[in-house]
Amino acid sequence: MVGGVRAVARCDELGVAPYSDAPDMLFRAYLTPAFAAAQRAIAGWMQEAGMQTRIDAAANLIGRYEGTADGPALLIGSHIDSVRDAGRYDGPLGVMLGIEAVAALHASGRRLPFPIEVIAFGDEEGSRFPAAMLTSRAVAGTLDPAMLEVEDARGLSLDEALAPFELSTLTFAQAAHAPALAYLEAHIEQGPVLESEGLAVGTVTGIAAQLRYAVMVAGVAGHAGTTTMPLRRDALTAAAEMVLAIERIARDDLSDLAATVGCLSVHPGAPNVVPGRVDFTIDIRSGDPIRRDRAAEQIIDRIADIAERRGTDFDIRRIHDLPASPCDPALMDLLDAAIAAQGQPPRRLVSGAGHDAMVMAALCPTAMLFVRCRGGTSHNPAEHVDGADAEIALQVMIDFILRLGDHVDA
Ligand code: GLV
Ligand code: MN
Ligand code: MN
Repeated sequence: MVGGVRAVARCDELGVAPYSDAPDMLFRAYLTPAFAAAQRAIAGWMQEAGMQTRIDAAANLIGRYEGTADGPALLIGSHIDSVRDAGRYDGPLGVMLGIEAVAALHASGRRLPFPIEVIAFGDEEGSRFPAAMLTSRAVAGTLDPAMLEVEDARGLSLDEALAPFELSTLTFAQAAHAPALAYLEAHIEQGPVLESEGLAVGTVTGIAAQLRYAVMVAGVAGHAGTTTMPLRRDALTAAAEMVLAIERIARDDLSDLAATVGCLSVHPGAPNVVPGRVDFTIDIRSGDPIRRDRAAEQIIDRIADIAERRGTDFDIRRIHDLPASPCDPALMDLLDAAIAAQGQPPRRLVSGAGHDAMVMAALCPTAMLFVRCRGGTSHNPAEHVDGADAEIALQVMIDFILRLGDHVDA
């Protein structure tokens, strides 16, 4: 089996129990039993590929392939946590391709003038704790300790979730990495551009800025049969109006601005009770941080207006804020050259999705390689990548690494 095909097959293997915590779908959240099982399997594959493995203080799995010199390492990574009811390639494909790149170098007895570390990041999606990219932030050394004071939906603190891994929030920041040469992440595109142009891979120019908020709307719970309509302070109907207002603000912008309410919970959640409280999240993105921040202000103003008109209270907390992150121009050129060397037309494109690369940019220059995915579908079990495309991506990565080696030697 060629490396790219094996990378896809391994993502498929990780798509089911024991590597998923849910019996009927793929859901692998940070620090769960399925997460630990996936780490064990991936560590075995890293070792087979000639790497020494370790788990860092933030529960990232790292495989290291020594170079001929002991300078700053080339880091290759992506994440192994998933969203609920996920596809199998968002995250793991980048890790598997990193392992395959090292396996190919190892098989041909090649060492680079720098060590290579393949990192399987733990928390990129933010699907368990109300935060995201905690573990790449720890590696990049940009973690705000207040971010670690989080609980999952069952009330388990991050510190409690780390305990089975014999780790703690007190030492989490010790995952900060030594200075690195560069960070390379391969990832499915999660959009339709490459497919629509008949291209297998593309060079990412930068990643859109993100903001996330947690909103709580408080009304008054009451009897569904006796609370007359004019007297109601229904938290759900207020929240529904807010959700539509958020959509309208993003739609009317007619740019790359995107705003999403992806979680909403209704309390107490009974058919015969007027909802007294609703919690929901807002995710706002744009390649232009000013546009993103202006949209966030408009959204907050609209929420305040609606809450006032409907006699409900509200609270809004910013839980995630990442600036737009440009990729490194010299590394983009190197990636384009590696793509052209595989007989593929170089194509540059921007990423609307977030990636660990946007955090790693604080540590070192970053490069991202996008791989075509069917229909641009992602965050969905229908996600699909062709083995042939993964093989092209792998050859591009190997060529990029060799070119970087020549660059460092020169
Ligand atoms: C990560 O998948 C994100 O863009 O939310
Ligand atoms: Mn994702
Ligand atoms: Mn991802």
